[in-house]
Amino acid sequence: NTKRSLQGKMVLITAGPTYEAIDPVRFIGNHSSGKMGFSLAEEAAKRGAKVILISGPSSLHSKHENIQLYRVTSAKEMLDKVFEFYDGIDIGIASAAVADYAPKVVASEKIKKNEDAFTIELIKNPDILKTMGERKAHQFLVGFALETQNEEENAKGKLAKKNLDMIVLNSLRDEGAGFKNDTNKIKIFTKTEKMEFDLKSKENVARDILDYIETQILK
Ligand code: PMT
Repeated sequence: NTKRSLQGKMVLITAGPTYEAIDPVRFIGNHSSGKMGFSLAEEAAKRGAKVILISGPSSLHSKHENIQLYRVTSAKEMLDKVFEFYDGIDIGIASAAVADYAPKVVASEKIKKNEDAFTIELIKNPDILKTMGERKAHQFLVGFALETQNEEENAKGKLAKKNLDMIVLNSLRDEGAGFKNDTNKIKIFTKTEKMEFDLKSKENVARDILDYIETQILK
């Protein structure tokens, strides 16, 4: 894309998983690789945007000079980094798979396997995107919904509850969609519109998402 269609825009993207420490060697995490978020960052940068990419643990690297990459580990660190930049951004896209819960206490030493059963008490993490929605002023906010059942209903629920302008649904029931794959299959919802896309490479899915955002912000 040589249109430079996002020239002058500041785009913040969250990507990857978060890791919530149990002890110095163990954590609670998930299967997110960061591919979806890094593809969005690359595509937005190509279109001329300044991109703040805030990623949980991922083996990916970003190449584009328009991308400022910040690596974080936990949901709390991701939240703090997002709000360093939030006031100045035009578009926020939350593609990170943030852990919803974290261990209440992080053991300072490696936990020994002395007991037959072992319980970890979890407490709710901050909802980063919901907080972005609550503090929304001029920002155009895009969320993701990763679902396994009642997909559309849940996605629309998140659109409303988190005060979003748009939500991208991917379902783990669709072959080749969601985590780790190089492909994804999405549906996009706004308050009034719905659009369904075919299975594509995450690079091409990123294009579709940014094309859609552009039609919305130019309205
Ligand atoms: O990284 P990949 O391997 O390429 O995989 C991509 C992906 C499947 C992780 C991605 O496409 C995706 O769906 N990301 C969102 C995953 C998710 O956590 O969905 P959710 O339905 O649980 O959360 C809804 C939205 O709230 C998401 O935008 C999420 O980033 C955000 N959220 C959720 C919880 C929380 N504590 N803070 C948040 O900001």
